[in-house]
Amino acid sequence: MTRTNENSADEKKEFAIMDLPGVGAATAEKLELAGYNDLMSIAVASPGELVETTGVGESIAKRIIQAARASLEMGFESGDEILKRRENILKIKTGSNNLDELLGGGIETSAITECFGEFGSGKTQIAFALAVMSQKHDPSSVVVFIDTENTFRPERIAQLAKAKGLNPDKVLKNVRVARAYNSDHQMLLVEKISDLINKQKLNVKVVIVDSLTSHFRAEFVGRGTLAERQQKLNRHMHDLLKLADSYNTCVYVTNQVMSRPDVFFGDPTVAIGGHIVAHNSTYRVYLRKGKKGSRVAKLVDSPSLPEKEAAFFVDANGLRDI
Ligand code: GTP
Ligand code: MG
Repeated sequence: MTRTNENSADEKKEFAIMDLPGVGAATAEKLELAGYNDLMSIAVASPGELVETTGVGESIAKRIIQAARASLEMGFESGDEILKRRENILKIKTGSNNLDELLGGGIETSAITECFGEFGSGKTQIAFALAVMSQKHDPSSVVVFIDTENTFRPERIAQLAKAKGLNPDKVLKNVRVARAYNSDHQMLLVEKISDLINKQKLNVKVVIVDSLTSHFRAEFVGRGTLAERQQKLNRHMHDLLKLADSYNTCVYVTNQVMSRPDVFFGDPTVAIGGHIVAHNSTYRVYLRKGKKGSRVAKLVDSPSLPEKEAAFFVDANGLRDI
């Protein structure tokens, strides 16, 4: 299911950055280090960013950006081509029909699904359920788990696998876990996923980032750093979106919430990451604790589905309906 043009694009880009006017080996290396590792990322950068990261003068930065833009074949795909591509999209079931239905049939590949909600609302449990259910879908596929809070539990995966009639050892072998120690590390790990796909030829169908925002939130404190944090978070989400899109992979991210002191009416809970995370997520689900130990999921800002709610339970066997 991996699209082969990604491979050749990867090979092409290595010369291509060096081919830009004003970019020698040293500048290319600085660009690479700063995360500008393809022409697109340079084409959409601002001259100021390039000046800052590479030390080139502003006029050269402008020339580099212009050349990167000119060199890109901005392929416009026809609607029917996109429709055909979308036929490959899978919906991975969660175990709860209610939640699946809310999401239009399950958690979608080629998309980012974000769950935000308070502690214990079920964000990580959905991640575990998704990991195991994807193995039911395709036992040869691989799940990548980027764990930022040290909440990955192999015992829980094994328990869920058994409950779904799967061999827990086999499932655990197909789950690749990496602990991210800070936001840079987290971003690097996402880059490394393309290596798993292209070099190790793994069929990565699910990528989980739990949690997307905790490092960013902890590292960028104070008003002055907000713009920088958002810019970095934006780049991170673009990397994830590119991964989802290029390899028909399901990307699931969790996000924390905070209480806005200026909201007097209604629910003051808002997701971390603001509009950057909101706009980059294809599906956004707000989770809260409901009555009698249930969890209530509310779909917010979906491109094609109505805003509604679904209730489900988390128990020893995973997710289930009431
Ligand atoms: P934070 O990461 O703290 O923000 O919370 P979260 O949203 O990731 O919560 P998580 O998914 O870890 O939810 C944990 C909740 O799942 C627990 O509080 C339990 O109520 C519920 N749960 C129900 N049954 C089980 C079970 O058998 N095992 C586990 N681990 N959790 C269960
Ligand atoms: Mg959690």
